[in-house]
Amino acid sequence: MTILVTGATGTVGRHLVEQLLSKGEQVRALSRNPERAGLPPAAEVVKGDLMEPASLIPALTGVQAMYLFPSSDQEGAALETPPEVVKLVAEAGVQRMTYLTLYGSGPVEEAIQASGMQWTFLQPVGFMANALDDWQAWVRKKGEVSVFGGHVRTAIIHEADIAAVASVTLLEPGHHERCYTLTGPELISPQEQVALISQAIGRPIAFISLSEQEARARWEDQGYDEETIAFFVEMNSTPPEIATTVAPTVEQITGRPAQSFATWVEQHRQAFL
Ligand SMILES: NC(=O)c1ccc[n+]([C@@H]2O[C@H](COP(=O)([O-])OP(=O)(O)OC[C@H]3O[C@@H](n4cnc5c(N)ncnc54)[C@H](OP(=O)(O)O)[C@@H]3O)[C@@H](O)[C@H]2O)c1
Repeated sequence: MTILVTGATGTVGRHLVEQLLSKGEQVRALSRNPERAGLPPAAEVVKGDLMEPASLIPALTGVQAMYLFPSSDQEGAALETPPEVVKLVAEAGVQRMTYLTLYGSGPVEEAIQASGMQWTFLQPVGFMANALDDWQAWVRKKGEVSVFGGHVRTAIIHEADIAAVASVTLLEPGHHERCYTLTGPELISPQEQVALISQAIGRPIAFISLSEQEARARWEDQGYDEETIAFFVEMNSTPPEIATTVAPTVEQITGRPAQSFATWVEQHRQAFL
């Protein structure tokens, strides 16, 4: 079967492409810049932009199943995939759709539910890979990280586990009309994460606690708008229950436990050296 993976060059999509190829599936990978995709040669890389639905039509030919993500801009900030995309996908004859949902409901979710496709929504909590975006440069250059809400524990998930669940829901029956909350195997705070990175690289990392005011000033400097900053403040200080409760879903669906942050650090140790 041909499976279209959107976000294929991104954090989750790259793992999904590799995992589907390793299962012998035909993978079509969407990218706005196929020449820079850097994906395995066995993947068919096609050009398309989710924010320009008509650009997807060539990519949809002959596709049976599709992984859709909500789109993000160059900095990884969330955008909203237009619901028209779902209409085009269903009209192209795609039978099964797995969607990475942010809130579990919204115009895209409604369009998918009304589309007649077999659908599954995946709702992951924070990604372990955020440690790369947020801390890698600081650890390498200064040997320190500064965080607001450093003691707050959440059930962050390994991005490869999101891909593993996506792969099962795309390939196997029994996941239609389901919304799965996906978490890692434990609650862990930023301070505990940094301690594990420090241990792995064999160097101390100074952990600096930021006040809300300091964090807000930093996010403002980085160009985030007030709504996004309010979201960051809430996530870092009083995250919702979904982010602070370990869910058994990864193991139930993949048949193996969700990977810990310690495992993630072993796999990414070089990035912090
Ligand atoms: N980070 C977290 O903790 C977290 C938690 C929950 C949910 N999420 C959500 O997860 C999503 C990000 O997933 P991810 O981290 O796997 O992706 P990502 O690494 O941010 O990027 C995915 C890829 O999608 C492509 N892309 C971006 N905009 C596109 C568009 N308009 N049309 C087609 N392709 C586009 C880009 O590739 P090309 O440049 O090759 O086109 C990019 O490499 C976001 O919606 C985010 O809100 C994140």
